[in-house]
Order: sequence, then structure tokens, then C-alpha cells
Amino acid sequence: MNKKILVTGGAGYIGSHTVAQLCEDGYDVVILDNLSTSCEESVVRLRKITGKEIPLYKVDIRDTDNVRKVLREEKIEAIIHFAAYSLVGESMTNPLKYYENNLYGTKQLLEAMTEEKVDKIVFSSTAATYGEPKSIPILETDETNPTNTYGETKLSMEKMFKWTANAHGLRYVSLRYFNACGAHESGLIGEAHNPETHLIPIILQAAAGVRESISVYGTDYPTRDGTCVRDYIHVYDLAKAHVAAVKYLIDGGKSDIFNLGTEIGSTVKEVIDAAKKITGKAIKVVYGERRAGDPAVLTASNKKAREVLGWKPEKTMEDIISSAWKWHSNNPHGYKK
Ligand code: UFG
Repeated sequence: MNKKILVTGGAGYIGSHTVAQLCEDGYDVVILDNLSTSCEESVVRLRKITGKEIPLYKVDIRDTDNVRKVLREEKIEAIIHFAAYSLVGESMTNPLKYYENNLYGTKQLLEAMTEEKVDKIVFSSTAATYGEPKSIPILETDETNPTNTYGETKLSMEKMFKWTANAHGLRYVSLRYFNACGAHESGLIGEAHNPETHLIPIILQAAAGVRESISVYGTDYPTRDGTCVRDYIHVYDLAKAHVAAVKYLIDGGKSDIFNLGTEIGSTVKEVIDAAKKITGKAIKVVYGERRAGDPAVLTASNKKAREVLGWKPEKTMEDIISSAWKWHSNNPHGYKK
């Protein structure tokens, strides 16, 4: 029998790419999404990409009764949990919105899981759980000291899994992503935040003429060219890691936490230069002040994920930019017509 996986937030950016990969690897997939920060069009396109039905339940994770109903009726084997708010800036101006959805929502989901005896969950976490790193590359055993509400809620969610797993015998894998980017090779699904705050989409919007310029936040960091270094990881590699983590749990793996990054750091200037080369477009760059809360360097150690999950990132910065460019040039306004 095929294993059926429920993906919460499956209409969103990383969720939709993971759904595509699960389908490709032969899993049956059900999406549960309240579409508050995503839209149905991504699911319509997923059906086109995969040739599969992919049921979409427009249900909020806080609605335990309906979540229970879906778990029961669809006979769900495991959950991949993406549904959450994820804007760092917004989490600082409206922290309770993040506690309500990310923490209370996860608590409700766990309640439904324990009631319906679904005992495996893969969780979308973040490098923001670490805060300002004391050493680079960051290891899973490093201190966690988030510097924003978003990271704090994700860390608290990890802890909620830990204690619930202890009490109720469920198993979880938490995946801490570094900088997610890139798009599906079809050009049909990709990154579409509103408002957009992430570096690569903003650079490509400037290349496409949708935005006038890109502002570089700070040129006086202690890095090779003065701009921040980040570990950019292709959403395809993230999707593969989620599928590997589900398989690991189904095969009896124990609860654990893994970094997902490439171990390669790129500066903001290097990403802009790569985008100029790949798009062949002029990109207007404005050099500005530092953005509050940005650490100089964030790169992952991915040794543990390679060793335990048998996963390794395959895509390069070139793959990231060219796939994202295909998506942005085909869909300059995201999923909006
Ligand atoms: N940057 C600019 N100009 C912009 C946007 C970003 O110079 O217009 C710079 C930032 O200062 C940073 C880098 O580009 O140095 C990447 O910035 P992003 O906003 O794209 O990503 P962050 O590194 O700030 O955030 C990412 C994820 C968060 C996560 C965080 C920590 O998007 O969800 O990593 O892991 F919390």
C-alpha cells in the first residue's frame, strides 16, 4: 500500500516543492492549507506538474475537529508540517500573531495527531533558532538563542515536539533550513511572498524591471567584500531532504534535528554578480545601511543530515538563480494573473 502523507502548508513555497517531490517518489499526498499566505493556484499547478489529483483541504491547523477528520478519513501515515508564519520583520512588530499561529496552531495539530494516533511528523524549522552564531559553520549542538520572535516560536515548536514525543510516543524530525531559494524546473511553482523581503527574489524583480533597484543592507561587515554571507540552499534540495526525513521516520528512525544548508557561503555582492551573469540584465544596486538583526555570516554544517539521512545538496548557485529566473520571468507577479 502507498504511504499517504499530509502536508500542512502544502500550497506555500517550500511545501509545494516538497509535495512535487513526494509525488515523484511515489507517495500519495494530501494538502491541508488555510491559504492565508498562499493560494490555490499553486495546487492547480502542482496537479499539472505531477499528473496527480492531490486533494486540498482548506482547513486551518487550529481547527482540531476538521484536522482529525482529515487524518482519519485519509488514513494518514505521517505529516510534514510547514503551516506557519515566517516573516522575521513582521514577527517583531506583531509577535502574538506568531505565537497564535505557530505555537497554538502546532499544539492543536499535535492534539489531533495524538488523538488519531498519527505518530510521525517532519517539521519545517529554521536557522533563526540559533540567533547570532558563536562559531561557523553552525552545528546542531550549538547554542540556540533566537534574536527574533519568528525564530523563538520555531524553537518553542521544536521543544513542544520533544515533550509531546516523550509523553505520547510520537517521533519527529526537525529540519533547520538556512536560506531557501530557487524554484521548480518547470517554472510553474516558485517563491511568491507578499511583501517580498528575500534577497534573490528582490534581485530578480530588479532584473525583470518589476522593481527599480536592489538595496544592499550594509557594506562594512567583516567578510571578504563587506556584505553579509549566507548559505543559500535550493528548494529542490530542501524538498529532497523532507522526503528523506519522512522515509527515515517510516523506517523507524529516532526523533532528531538536522541543519539543511550547503556549507557554502555567498556574499550579497556575489549573489548579485551571479544574477547579472545568468540573466544578462543590468541590475541597479543601491548600497545602504545595515538591517537591524542581520548576523555577518550564517553557514550550516550539513554533516549530520548527510550521515544520518543520506541526503546531500546537489544544486549550485547557478542552478538556484536560473531556476528562480525562469519562475520570475514567467510569473512576474507570482501566482496573480
Ligand atoms: N539583503 C539585502 N537586501 C535586500 C534583502 C536582503 O542586502 O533587499 C541581504 C540581507 O541583509 C542578508 C541577505 O541579503 O544579508 C539575505 O537576506 P534574506 O532576507 O533573503 O534572508 P535572511 O538571511 O535574513 O533570512 C533567512 C530566512 C529567514 C530565516 C533567516 C535566518 O529568510 O526565514 O534566514 O536563518 F529566519
